Amino acid sequence: MNNTQSTELLFEISKTGRRCHRLPVCDVPVDEPLESLLPDAHRAAEPPPLPEVGEIDLIRHYTNLSTRNMSIDTNFYPLGSCTMKYNPKRHERFAGLPGFAALHPLQDDETLQGMLELLFHMQEYLAEISGLPAVSLQPAAGAQGELTALFVAAAYFRDKGETQRKKVLVPDSAHGTNPASAALAGFEAVTVKSTPGGLVDLDDLRAKIGPDTAVFMITNPNTLGLFEKQIQTITTLLHEQGALVYLDGANMNAILGITRPGDFGADMQHYNVHKTFTGPHGGGGPGSGPIAVREFLAPYLPAPVVVQDGDRYRLEYDMPKSIGRVRSFFGNVGILFRGYCYIRTLGPDGLKDVSEQAVLNANYLRARVAEGYDIPHAGPCMHEFVASARGLLREKKIRAMDIAKRLLDYGYHAPTVYFPLVVPEALMMEPTETESRETLDAFADTLLAIRNEEPDMLRTAPHTHIISRADEVKAAKEPVLRWK
Ligand SMILES: Cc1ncc(COP(=O)(O)O)c(C=O)c1O
Repeated sequence: MNNTQSTELLFEISKTGRRCHRLPVCDVPVDEPLESLLPDAHRAAEPPPLPEVGEIDLIRHYTNLSTRNMSIDTNFYPLGSCTMKYNPKRHERFAGLPGFAALHPLQDDETLQGMLELLFHMQEYLAEISGLPAVSLQPAAGAQGELTALFVAAAYFRDKGETQRKKVLVPDSAHGTNPASAALAGFEAVTVKSTPGGLVDLDDLRAKIGPDTAVFMITNPNTLGLFEKQIQTITTLLHEQGALVYLDGANMNAILGITRPGDFGADMQHYNVHKTFTGPHGGGGPGSGPIAVREFLAPYLPAPVVVQDGDRYRLEYDMPKSIGRVRSFFGNVGILFRGYCYIRTLGPDGLKDVSEQAVLNANYLRARVAEGYDIPHAGPCMHEFVASARGLLREKKIRAMDIAKRLLDYGYHAPTVYFPLVVPEALMMEPTETESRETLDAFADTLLAIRNEEPDMLRTAPHTHIISRADEVKAAKEPVLRWK
């Protein structure tokens, strides 16, 4: 094994006395020795056991580590429900401009005018795209947006004296964060079944709506990549009972400029700015999950929101009914900034084009994948689709996970597997609009070829990576996060 493939940790190559740098002796005059400024009780007896390495080893170590990740900049990344589209590098340059990047959130509003103006317009764009006029930029991820909107709903019903509304209805195809957010916000999550065609079962929904229903959370297009065609019937049913409709906006990439949640009856929604509007994400962050709500819910939004006074911008804290802050400062400004650049670059026509291309790419890939895999739900699909490896399991004892792991050997990030839960052996694929036809064809050809490989080759994959098949349950339940 040569240097560039070394799996050694920095601690293992550490040699006492090696250094990347030397600090000059402190030349600031002090009245007392530095040691006496900090009481003994707060001082470590020994210096921390940090690795001691030279600069070249340090650089090689981190550069090599960086090449072990799959990223949208290195590989096709069809991870369903995650919208892993290309993140334009221009946005990185803009976000790094010192006038923005070097701001401190505790500066006075008067010295933050550029950033506040940008955030104000971002609020306006998100309101326009959703058809819901009041926006909070604070939530730091989609899941936090869900939770925030449910707190808003709870405050609204409390204010109306409708405290009997304890239930949040959630389709069985929903992302796990939906029932989790409902429970965290103090509601009882009730599952609504899907039809065999993959849409909300209206009979089951009717049976579950009642005077105790607070909110129905719906994802549209849903996680099977299908547009809920009866959405207006659904929102009317809920509104007739005085309940609210929440749109999980993770799948906005399919409908930008084509339809608006506010127009089809949603009262609240979150955005995943990191997905739809190109914030670089993956590996757990960073994210941004602003929410947009109808006017009558605006008083309950987290304070502060950004407002315009003449030609100045400021933070409005005077919101007596607000649920309070859900995040420090103004939200995840770095990701909001990139989203703003994206929206400004594309404009209304460009955003519509994004969704049309995303849907076209998904349907193309769906048709190619259907040459060798089950696709349980009738098309056309929206921006993603769900295939199933159940046929392969029957035929050859090959599972969705085996296909996903083998794809890594061919240089592809795996699709989402085993989600949504309503599809056995699910492989959920979202190509996004930024991929070329050649990439989609190459990926489909690989999937079709893998299908015919020796089953053992698949069951033991990946074969070309530094880490082979990990025990994912153990890794999640007993994570080893320290070197020793
Ligand atoms: C349908 C759906 N809803 C909600 C979320 C939660 O979003 P986030 O990961 O930003 O918290 C996701 C994330 O994958 C999702 O796919």
